[in-house]
Amino acid sequence: MAGFTLLDGRLACDGIPVADIAAGTGTPVYVYSASLIRGAHAALDAAFAAYPHTIHYALKANSTLAILRLIRGLATGADANSGGEIEAALRAGFEPSQIVFTGVGKTRDELDRAVALGMKAINIESDGEADRIDALARARGVKARVALRVNPDIEANTHAHISTGQRFNKFGVPIEFAAPLLRRLAGKPGLEVVGLHLHLGSQMLDVEPLGAAARALAALARDVRDAGLRLEHLDVGGGLGIGYDGAAHGSPAEYASAVLPAVRPTGLHLLLEPGRFIVAAAGILVGRVADTKAYAGSPRFIILDTGMTELIRPMLYDAFHRIVAVAPREGEQQQCEVVGPLCETSDTLGHQRQFGPVEVDDLIAVLDAGAYGFVMASNYNRRRMPAEVLVDGGSWRVVRKRQSYGDLFRNEE
Ligand SMILES: Cc1ncc(COP(=O)(O)O)c(C=O)c1O
Repeated sequence: MAGFTLLDGRLACDGIPVADIAAGTGTPVYVYSASLIRGAHAALDAAFAAYPHTIHYALKANSTLAILRLIRGLATGADANSGGEIEAALRAGFEPSQIVFTGVGKTRDELDRAVALGMKAINIESDGEADRIDALARARGVKARVALRVNPDIEANTHAHISTGQRFNKFGVPIEFAAPLLRRLAGKPGLEVVGLHLHLGSQMLDVEPLGAAARALAALARDVRDAGLRLEHLDVGGGLGIGYDGAAHGSPAEYASAVLPAVRPTGLHLLLEPGRFIVAAAGILVGRVADTKAYAGSPRFIILDTGMTELIRPMLYDAFHRIVAVAPREGEQQQCEVVGPLCETSDTLGHQRQFGPVEVDDLIAVLDAGAYGFVMASNYNRRRMPAEVLVDGGSWRVVRKRQSYGDLFRNEE
């Protein structure tokens, strides 16, 4: 009974009633299914099986240590986007040689640590950053392995806030400037140029832009190889989306068929940096109904004990998440606004949703919350970060305790 299913009419995670978990931990709580994470990873890995590749899980989607350890056990690499994410990857047991370090605006300290560790590749975002890495590496008497992140100027067909590969986005070096820059980098004693990198955007259900981006990267690889540069890999970033509406979309097989024909002729090792696809569907956010109200002329509100502080995606990206009662009650469906307790009108998790009867203290689950959920949580309104639970092999355990009030004030004078 893998994943989130109904067991005797009540929501269960890998066969364990979600209500039992919530009774043990309180709410809000994130609940993750280890079997769904393994399944998503295996599906993606299988789709690319015909070509040499490495999956570098993008920590930004979810960097809870227990999840990272699970993913590390799947013989994969990591994609870290900050000094903190490098630290998380190391603590989860990844070797520096398994980590690619991406990120616009890496600080000198972060770069120096990455150079000292010796990453699989530092993905360079600009001419200036390349020079800084070169200087840091020379100061340490080493050569830093680097890849150039290019901006291919391709529309990702996704939400504007998670589109990263167009000319007006801040990411990477515009692709037409890449070849001369790469030739310049090849002469730098502190750098070993090992790859080319791009990342087009996130939550992409149309895989064709990913194919177009792979073709652009492969063409660049051919150009610079003809000019004598020896590359090891092409890194096509992440971006494969999931069906937040519950329907199947953008399968790994379609993704592989879009990318592989472009990459295969280069013979270069392929790196993938999926985040969302691996963990999004594997997590839910469970909250309790704190209040309900319905007055003539106003919407019917279901007010939860969880909201934008735990899951900001609906407010940040207008993202849609299915929201369900953990133990649905019989009765007429009515249109509701499902909202959080925060002092913000935008603190709405679900707009115009159909819900049956709901009472105070009922448990509610927000589905597909495993990616960009907890990692974006905040203490706004002095709320404490929620607990996280991992269900694995028929049992569950708290992998992150709810913050205490002591935690909340720890670093203040
Ligand atoms: C460079 C890079 N790689 C990988 C990812 C992961 O993307 P996704 O979670 O859509 O797979 C991101 C997300 O923004 C990214 O910026």
